[in-house]
Amino acid sequence: MSYKIPFSGRAHKYTDDEKEIILKAIDDAVPLTQGRYQKEFEEKFASYIGTKYAFALNNATAALELSAQLCQFKDGDQFICPSHTFTASAYPFIKKGARPVWADIDKDTRVVTLESIKRCVTKNTKAIVVVHLYGFIIPEIEDIANFAKENGIFLIEDVAQAMGTEIDEKKAGTFGDFGVFSFHSHKNITTLGEGGMLIVKDKKFADILPMLRHNGHLAWNIQRENYWTPAMGNVDLPQLNGEYLMPNNYCLGEVECALGIKLLDRLDEINKQKRARAIKFINKLVQYDILEFHKEDSLKHNYHLLVAYVKDGKRDIFMQKMSEEKSIQCVVQYYPLNRYDFYKKLGFGYANCKNTDDFFDNMVSFPFHHMMSDDEYEYLLTSTIEVLKEI
Ligand SMILES: Cc1ncc(COP(=O)(O)O)c(C=O)c1O
Repeated sequence: MSYKIPFSGRAHKYTDDEKEIILKAIDDAVPLTQGRYQKEFEEKFASYIGTKYAFALNNATAALELSAQLCQFKDGDQFICPSHTFTASAYPFIKKGARPVWADIDKDTRVVTLESIKRCVTKNTKAIVVVHLYGFIIPEIEDIANFAKENGIFLIEDVAQAMGTEIDEKKAGTFGDFGVFSFHSHKNITTLGEGGMLIVKDKKFADILPMLRHNGHLAWNIQRENYWTPAMGNVDLPQLNGEYLMPNNYCLGEVECALGIKLLDRLDEINKQKRARAIKFINKLVQYDILEFHKEDSLKHNYHLLVAYVKDGKRDIFMQKMSEEKSIQCVVQYYPLNRYDFYKKLGFGYANCKNTDDFFDNMVSFPFHHMMSDDEYEYLLTSTIEVLKEI
């Protein structure tokens, strides 16, 4: 079915300047991976986020997997994670040997709280994955970071949807041990469909990440006096806390990095425009209290997604009318992970997460990509009001 306003899998259109950069990098990047554009992208990203060590990767899932690998899980280790998130927040940690304990979300913010995390802690908790979902930075992130630190637990912030959000001028991703970002097609900025960034605090992680990212490659630790020194570079096993780690190949290409450098100039502007549209939308609907939105007119929310709780069990009828009468594709998002066959088959199908279930069973996510024209946005707004009047 084709919609007047689809829930697009693509977030934004490139400007002529951005397209020019792509063409330039296609011509002048040597090599086409792991060159000067990667270095510049990482430096600019680190400076934008306010951190020291940033590593460009082929996507955020790879960043989550590398974080999981650096946690060095042992038999019986657990990690805490909200079940109300995209699957990539969780399964890389299972893949690397930890068992999930699902944390509930807060009814109003739709993200975890310190309290919901504390309820999941056991003597086996080795890591906490928190997700700044929908583009909303977790209000208690600082307290959660302090709690994790005091208890010797790794904190991984999944910032895939919330790039650029901040509390008291401290950006999401900089509170924990690891910050994970995505430039996937659907995100507020995208490096041609795939891309990610991992930031780390600890120098000992930063020292081995280039090897972990690229097949264990590193420079020879000897003078190459003779041209026949075997191969162009050395390969070795990255070592952490006396243990060897197997490397991966998770590099991002130079063209994507060149584009990423340019897109960072526009990120705040895109976030600002999405925020302004979201707030106008929410304010115009204020008399229809059947819809409960996040209401955050501040840098805490980038409105990657615009979602609402639909009260009185009217979600399905609302969505049906939006689709059939207005040709607008709203969706329902973030099936609690424990309900998926994937997690059930692994034995992780149980969660005590009442708010998560209630939110998922009553939520709606509006089409809200940056490519939407003003006319389409107005149509979305007036159509929503008309449907709300009907139900
Ligand atoms: C919350 C969250 N975490 C992780 C990811 C994974 O990102 P990527 O597609 O870059 O691997 C996504 C992407 O959709 C996401 O929304």
